[in-house]
Amino acid sequence: MCGIVGYTGMQEAAPILLDGLKKLEYRGYDSAGIAVMKDEVICVSKASGRIANLCEKTEDGKAVPGCTGIGHTRWATHGAPTDTNAHPHMSNDGKFVVVHNGIIENYVTLREELIAKGYRFDSQTDTEVIVHLLEMYYDGNLKRTVIKASSRLQGSYALGVVCTDEPGKVIAAREYSPLIIGVGIGENYFASDVTALVSYTRNIIYLEDGEFAEITKDDVNVFDGTGHTINKKINRITWDIQAAEKGGYEHFMLKEIMEQPGAVKATITPRIKDGDIVLDDMDISEEYLKGINKIIITACGSAYYAGCAGKYAIESLCRIPVQTELASELRYSNPIIDEHTMLIVLSQSGETADTIAAMKECKARGAKLMAIVNVVGSTIAKLADYTIYTWAGPEIAVATTKGYTTQVAVLDLVALYIAKKLGRIDEAEFNRLLDEVQRLPKAIQDALDMNPNISSLAKKYHKAKALFFIGRNTDYAVALEGALKMKEISYIHAESYAAGELKHGTIALIEDHQPVISLCCNKSILEKTMSNIVEVKARGAEVLAVTVKDNQKIVSLADDVIYVPETETIFSAAVEIVPLQMLAYYVAKENGCDIDKPKNLAKSVTVE
Ligand code: M6R
Repeated sequence: MCGIVGYTGMQEAAPILLDGLKKLEYRGYDSAGIAVMKDEVICVSKASGRIANLCEKTEDGKAVPGCTGIGHTRWATHGAPTDTNAHPHMSNDGKFVVVHNGIIENYVTLREELIAKGYRFDSQTDTEVIVHLLEMYYDGNLKRTVIKASSRLQGSYALGVVCTDEPGKVIAAREYSPLIIGVGIGENYFASDVTALVSYTRNIIYLEDGEFAEITKDDVNVFDGTGHTINKKINRITWDIQAAEKGGYEHFMLKEIMEQPGAVKATITPRIKDGDIVLDDMDISEEYLKGINKIIITACGSAYYAGCAGKYAIESLCRIPVQTELASELRYSNPIIDEHTMLIVLSQSGETADTIAAMKECKARGAKLMAIVNVVGSTIAKLADYTIYTWAGPEIAVATTKGYTTQVAVLDLVALYIAKKLGRIDEAEFNRLLDEVQRLPKAIQDALDMNPNISSLAKKYHKAKALFFIGRNTDYAVALEGALKMKEISYIHAESYAAGELKHGTIALIEDHQPVISLCCNKSILEKTMSNIVEVKARGAEVLAVTVKDNQKIVSLADDVIYVPETETIFSAAVEIVPLQMLAYYVAKENGCDIDKPKNLAKSVTVE
């Protein structure tokens, strides 16, 4: 989704803005622009397509001199990704320039009102209403005017505003879209997220919804909608810029796949103390857990599929019914929820609009919220009653990998934690399963090491028009994520099916040479999945099986086999998914796809 960045200080702003925008590229965008103020003149430059086009147009920023500016990467919603629709947008009198991430839901009404008052609209965007509102309400005081204009906006926004009457100042505002302030010495910043700023400052202020910031080179004043100052804490970022760079890998996705053993270890290790599970500083009482009669897991995309995998661990260990719900559906489903429902929310970015809306809906109905989130200080992390960070480090590739595996690992810990608190597991079994969870990082490393031939398999399968992923039970949960990984980066039509469902319709699609990727790691149901392999093979399918090492029967059935180390079935998703991530990666590479930034996708989906 859109990314915004702002700077004011003593250095030239444009190179810093362009660099910040490059760091935000992973969020997904189709045009970019910057506005730089020098004395009382603002120069705007925008370009559709990649940031490289903007760099060329501005001679890497040299053509737009000045020490105060704002920048934007746009992911088109209202209007095509053209130069005109790209941000920043300027008011008719040239006084105000705005960048915006989010959606102004009442823009049609505002646009009609502003047109009737004589304002000229140059773009098709919802954002343009903001600059004209600023011009209309301007009373000589920028801060007051931004508050007034914002009070007319419905929807979501992270805004950056500059005004020729107040050189050296940027104003930032936040409502339901992520925004942080970077605090430097003699220079200050704002951005959609920390990655854009971490090479300049590690001192970060997280803005909350309804907050504004008046930023000059020497000062950051955060205030509310009445103009009153709010004292904010400055947080120190501990991770390094290298964590957000490729480190010798061809793509971020490959780097992040390889980082998974370390990421899962970082997720698990701090939570195991003296043979017990300590979930951060969370104190979930036994009394509360005893009163829960249902757990709902909600999320979007891969995070939802991590929830589908975690359901098996929680139900099998805690014996509490678990319902998995897509957040975009849950929010409008009039859900049956009360104070006996526990909602578990999963999100890498912590900013997914549908997930946030589902949380709010469930909270209003009395549910307690547990969030499993990667980005520290994100909206979802702050909304929840209990927050568990996945500590995966920054994930830049749009297709999540370590985000998913660390979410699954946390769910495994949560399942064990609740089971123990409720007395649904005896000590010996708890200890055995805790050992199994601690073995996951090594098992993930083994899954990476055991499969040097995946790039050759990719050469065989990359021309397929469609790929079917099948599995049962825990294997089915992995099939869901495997198919999503494949389709989002390779653009091959990939679908997942519960293997037992094939004969109820889908098997009609199986014909000669149709590749079927069969997940065969769940031993309890293996014979059944094998019958499904026989059925598709009888209709001409070519089967690539993912299974554990000693499974000779599969070897004789399948055309190709990928091995993974054997792990406890209910915890196996974090290991079993690894070769499917690699397969998707190499197939996409064979097909020449833009692996880290797949078309039409955004890393952080901050609009509905
Ligand atoms: O940041 P989140 O985990 O909330 O994002 C949820 C989905 O948008 C995300 O998992 C998406 O499906 C990824 N592209 C999958 O790789």
